[in-house]
Amino acid sequence: MGRLVIVSNRIPLGSNPSGGLVVALEDAMARRGGLWVGVQPEGEPIDGATDAGEGVITLDGAPFDRAAVCMPDRLYDDYYLGYANSVLWPLCHGRTELIDQQPRYRKAYEEVNRRLARSLAKMVEPDDLIWVHDYHHLPLAAALRAEGLQNAIGFFLHIPFPTASNVFALTGARDLVDWLSDYDLVGLQTRRDVASAMDVFRQFPESQFLMDGSIRFGSRMVEIKSFPIGIEVAGFREMAQRSEARLAPRSRKWIIGAERLDYSKGLPHRLRAFGKLLEQEADLRGAVSLLQIASPTREDVTAYREIREELEQLSGAVNGRYSDINYTPIQYLNRGIPRDQLAGLFAQADVGLVTPLADGMNLVAKEYVAAQDPDDPGVLVLSSFAGAFEQLGETALIANPYDPAQMARVIAEALLMPREERIARHRPMLARVEEEDVAWWSSSFIEALEAKRLGGDFLD
Ligand code: G6P
Repeated sequence: MGRLVIVSNRIPLGSNPSGGLVVALEDAMARRGGLWVGVQPEGEPIDGATDAGEGVITLDGAPFDRAAVCMPDRLYDDYYLGYANSVLWPLCHGRTELIDQQPRYRKAYEEVNRRLARSLAKMVEPDDLIWVHDYHHLPLAAALRAEGLQNAIGFFLHIPFPTASNVFALTGARDLVDWLSDYDLVGLQTRRDVASAMDVFRQFPESQFLMDGSIRFGSRMVEIKSFPIGIEVAGFREMAQRSEARLAPRSRKWIIGAERLDYSKGLPHRLRAFGKLLEQEADLRGAVSLLQIASPTREDVTAYREIREELEQLSGAVNGRYSDINYTPIQYLNRGIPRDQLAGLFAQADVGLVTPLADGMNLVAKEYVAAQDPDDPGVLVLSSFAGAFEQLGETALIANPYDPAQMARVIAEALLMPREERIARHRPMLARVEEEDVAWWSSSFIEALEAKRLGGDFLD
């Protein structure tokens, strides 16, 4: 059995890297041996890294090997801020009007993946399983195949798959299909994403859909399947219980929202709906507050600077209108907070608001469910645009971010919901989050990829 080689834009840092994905993959890497590889801009050196030559740095101190391939800053920016986050991110989140296609972005994207493939080819053994993560590295399998690698290579897209009606906004849309078909297995978050992917392949006449669900594209064959990512439930719950963070005053009801400050998260829609709630329900003024945590991200991309300004204005407007000496309706934090504190705040909040406009999965929805006391749980308010809707949509309350009045009504319903109904809605969600956790996710993917490797050997 070969090692598990994980590739993602960022490698997990610190001597004790935590976070669900790392915890999930750590097990498999401990069993079979593991290597985690990413890329790093030269201008941002990593503390404690060792220069391994040829532009590669390595890190000690984790239960698996870690390496990063260094890229010149300008090239890295054009790849990360440019193609990944100004072209692919808006495309996949259905915001084609925000796409900024510059020829140099595309060149940098391919170049970074080519350089990464060249370094990886030297690190990888013939029977290693390679698992590539996310939209930063779509062309990596093609680049690795060009280096002569025949390993089983899997890909998991953490964000939504673009729809067939949006995909042609991408100059070279066909390349997307080409890149994907060099993988043996492509994992997507939801069945909806798989349907979009099939639809995109269908736009190209050389795609052949086989009986076993895989697709033949030219001389290559790829299987596309949904593997909804989960969380590490016990660890998150313990963190919530140990946390000393408090929502105060307790006499008030609390609604919580926590995400990266991203335009896909529907934050302005949420603040408008909360404003509407206070406008319509005078009784709730002074009785309910929204804690909105929005951690800054990708601030060198214009669309992110704009959404930040919009939110500051909106929260200011609601607060200006309804604040009192002892009451601030919206506590808006424009920064991230430590995960253990967040877990504690989730546990105490009466309502968890997860209302994105588009989202691959949204793990906050699952974390909020996991952090609740099953005997007196809070209410999850979810939009149907989060990937989590496929697993939790039956008993979460569903809000439509495009209809502020409807969202305000749903929030009011959540705030007033009797305990029995809260328990009845929470129980099946918790069961699902526990069953389909992050270990289930990673082992299903790895097993499916391993089957490709064995299948491949057999056919050879
Ligand atoms: C999303 C993406 C991840 C990414 C994360 C943080 O969840 O799917 O690949 O790492 O956002 O974004 P950042 O640009 O800061 O890495």
